[in-house]
Amino acid sequence: SSPTIYQATCSAPVNIAVIKYWGKRDTSLILPTNDSLSVTLDQDHLRSVTTARADASFPAGKDRLWLNGEEETIQDGGRLRRCFDEMKKLRKAKEDKDASLPKLSEWSVHVCSENNFPTAAGLASSASGFAALIASLAALYELQPEVSSSELSRIARQGSGSACRSLFGGYVAWQGGSEASGSDSLAVEVAPQSHWPDLQALICVVSDAKKGTPSTAGMQRTVATSPLLQHRIQHVVPGRMKAISDAIRQRDFDAFAEITMADSNNFHACCLDTAPPIFYMNDVSRAIVQLVEELNRASEAEGKGKMAAYTYDAGSNAVLYAPKANVAQILAVVRHYFPNADFDDTVSLSWPSAPSPAP
Ligand code: PMV
Repeated sequence: SSPTIYQATCSAPVNIAVIKYWGKRDTSLILPTNDSLSVTLDQDHLRSVTTARADASFPAGKDRLWLNGEEETIQDGGRLRRCFDEMKKLRKAKEDKDASLPKLSEWSVHVCSENNFPTAAGLASSASGFAALIASLAALYELQPEVSSSELSRIARQGSGSACRSLFGGYVAWQGGSEASGSDSLAVEVAPQSHWPDLQALICVVSDAKKGTPSTAGMQRTVATSPLLQHRIQHVVPGRMKAISDAIRQRDFDAFAEITMADSNNFHACCLDTAPPIFYMNDVSRAIVQLVEELNRASEAEGKGKMAAYTYDAGSNAVLYAPKANVAQILAVVRHYFPNADFDDTVSLSWPSAPSPAP
């Protein structure tokens, strides 16, 4: 008979924050200076697909990982190493309880991961990448349901902070927590996608070049130099976390849009307040801000609500959120003002849960 193959494939989607995470209080455990909240996007458009395999014949003590076909170094004490170690610890605990299980925790693992979109272009590739890594190891080691998604999010967080939010679909909060150990710094579901399926995301790829200042270096500099960030942490984010959670629960798009845009602008203001300053948005990003503000002004003048909300991460690309009924008009206006652009990708937010085993 053929030997059993221990292998699992999972995919995880990108999430785009509406209350931004920017700043670490512990750089090694990746503990944030503030809570954050995001929307997980549809897996059809932006996702990482990851296969993990454990094999007794792999040379011992050498896990390996390939990202988009190129091997990455798994450095001692690095984030990837920590993710592998934490997952093996959970597997070991399971094996200790059940002696009949194969000792996968002692075997080396080979991982292969692919993104179907540009890596490190401000499209949250690290979020889907680390979420897919953790999901595939959890599947390989058969950890769920005993280990919850929130518990897995605590490990994904140590790969890339924002990754903890991609362990859930829908509307997701990362509770920053207060413990020095990071035990209470994890993701929780605010509402499933099915609660508000009318919300759509539109990704405007302004540039797919690698971003200038990586988020880790950028955050470090902002934490060290920006007085505005301290104001944001203490006086801005706590109220917004509550207000946007309420807006989501009530499906109140006007409130959701107002808070989303304000928080994106506050985050980029903190970047500008950093010494030396960090510029993620460019002239095209700012033109899209003006366009959305104008669309909203015109719509509100007619007594209707806002048309759309914009938000920008550590890059120049815009993500627009809008009710389904507005998407065609928004696309028409964007095409009118950017006639050469290739903004034809409407990303609907319709999946049941995330991450999921790949077909
Ligand atoms: O998880 P990181 O290190 O890629 O940081 C992500 C930071 C932002 O995307 C700018 C904001 C967020 O909350 O996702």
